[in-house]
Amino acid sequence: MKLEIDRDRLVRELDALGAISQELPPVVTRVVFTEADVRGREFVKQLCREAGLTIREDAVGNTFVRWIGENPGLEPVATGSHIDAIPNAGRFDGTVGVLGGLEAIRALAKAGHRPRRSIELVIFTSEEPTRFGIGCLGSRLMSGLLDPATASHYKDRDGVSLDDARSTAGFQGLLSSVRLPPAYYSAFVEMHIEQGPLLEQHKVPLGVVTAIAAPASLKIRIEGEGGHAGAVLMPDRHDAFLAAAEIALAVEQGARSSGSRDTVGTVGVCDIFPSAVNSIPSRARMEIDVRDTDDSRRDAVLRTIEQACAEITRRRGVQAHVEIVNADPPAHCAPHVVDTLVESCETHGLPFERMISRAYHDSLFMARIAPAAMLFIPCRDGVSHRPDEYASPESIAQGTLVLAEALARLASQ
Ligand code: GLV
Ligand code: MN
Ligand code: MN
Repeated sequence: MKLEIDRDRLVRELDALGAISQELPPVVTRVVFTEADVRGREFVKQLCREAGLTIREDAVGNTFVRWIGENPGLEPVATGSHIDAIPNAGRFDGTVGVLGGLEAIRALAKAGHRPRRSIELVIFTSEEPTRFGIGCLGSRLMSGLLDPATASHYKDRDGVSLDDARSTAGFQGLLSSVRLPPAYYSAFVEMHIEQGPLLEQHKVPLGVVTAIAAPASLKIRIEGEGGHAGAVLMPDRHDAFLAAAEIALAVEQGARSSGSRDTVGTVGVCDIFPSAVNSIPSRARMEIDVRDTDDSRRDAVLRTIEQACAEITRRRGVQAHVEIVNADPPAHCAPHVVDTLVESCETHGLPFERMISRAYHDSLFMARIAPAAMLFIPCRDGVSHRPDEYASPESIAQGTLVLAEALARLASQ
C-alpha cells in the first residue's frame, strides 16, 4: 500500500477551520454550541460528505463519520478528537486529530485500501470545559461515566442549560441515548499535538502515549459582605475576593508541596462581584484545575485545598461552597494499540518516544470502553492553549501517515 498524505490540503483545511472563530485571527475561540462551533462542525461535515463518508450525530452533538469496511458487522476502529477551542486558543489543539483523521481515511481510500472493519472518525462535543465547567462532555456521556441526569442540569455562566444550548445548536433527543453499547469499538486512536516541549527538545518526530494523567476540577463560590470601598474600615471587612486570593495561593502551595513535579494546580477562573473599583467584593467564583499522574497524590492535594478553604473562610468570616466537579482516574493505554502505533512508526522509518500525556483528552474516557492509545506530534516550544500554538506541516503529515497506517492495521485485525 502506497500511502500519500495530501499535506497542503490538510494544512489549508486546518487554516480554514482556524479562521472559524469568535475572535479575529490568529485567536481561535470556538466554545461549544456557539455559532462559531456550529460553523466549524458544518465545515468539517462538508469535507466528510465530499469524501463520501456517512455521518451520524447523537443528542449531544458527538459526530460519527463512518468509512464502511468490508465487514460492516464487525466492531469498527475509531479515531478522532475535538474542534471546540477554549478562549484565546490556537489552531491545532484537537483539530489535528479531526482533520488528520479525515485525511488518514482519504489517504487509505486513495491508496486503494479497503478496511476489513469500518473506520469511524469521531468529533467529540466539548472536550474543553469552558462552557459547562466539565471537560470531555461528549466522551464522558458516550462512555457512560457521566450520568445524563446530572449533565442535563449543567448551566453555563449565563444560566443557559446544556439542554437549551444543545437544542439551539440543533441537537435534540435524550442524553441517555448518547451512551454507546458495550464493546462498540474494537480500538480507538487519537492524534493530538503534544502540548508540551519534550518531542521538540528531544528532536523526536512522534510520541506514542502510554498513559494519560488524572485530571480534577473544583468550583468554589464564596459569599462575603459587600460595601463601600471608602467607608468600611479594614477590620470590619469580609471581602470575598481576598478569601479567593488566599485560596488561590493554597492551590499553588498544595501542588508545589505534593512531593512530585507531576502535580499541577491552576486557578483558571476567578470572577468577582460586583466588580466595581469602589465596591468591596461580596461574591467570588473560582474554577480550579488539579492534575497528577498519580490520582491518590492528586486527591491528597484536593483535600489540602478543601482544608485550606475551610480555614481561610472561617478566619475571614465568609461562607464558601466547594464542589468537586470531576476527579477522574488516569488512563492506561492498551498495549496492543500502543504496539500498533510503534510498528506503524517503524514501518515509515519515523523515530518515536513513549510518553505520558499531561493534558487530558477524550481518550481518557474512550480508554474506559475500548482499547485506546494516542499519537502525539510536536508543537513549537510546547506552546498550547494560546494563539501562537503551532505544529509544522511536516509534523502534521508525519503524524497523519502513522495514524493512517495504524488505522489500517487495527481495521484488518
Ligand atoms: C485539555 O484541553 C486539557 O485541559 O488538558
Ligand atoms: Mn485543549
Ligand atoms: Mn485537545
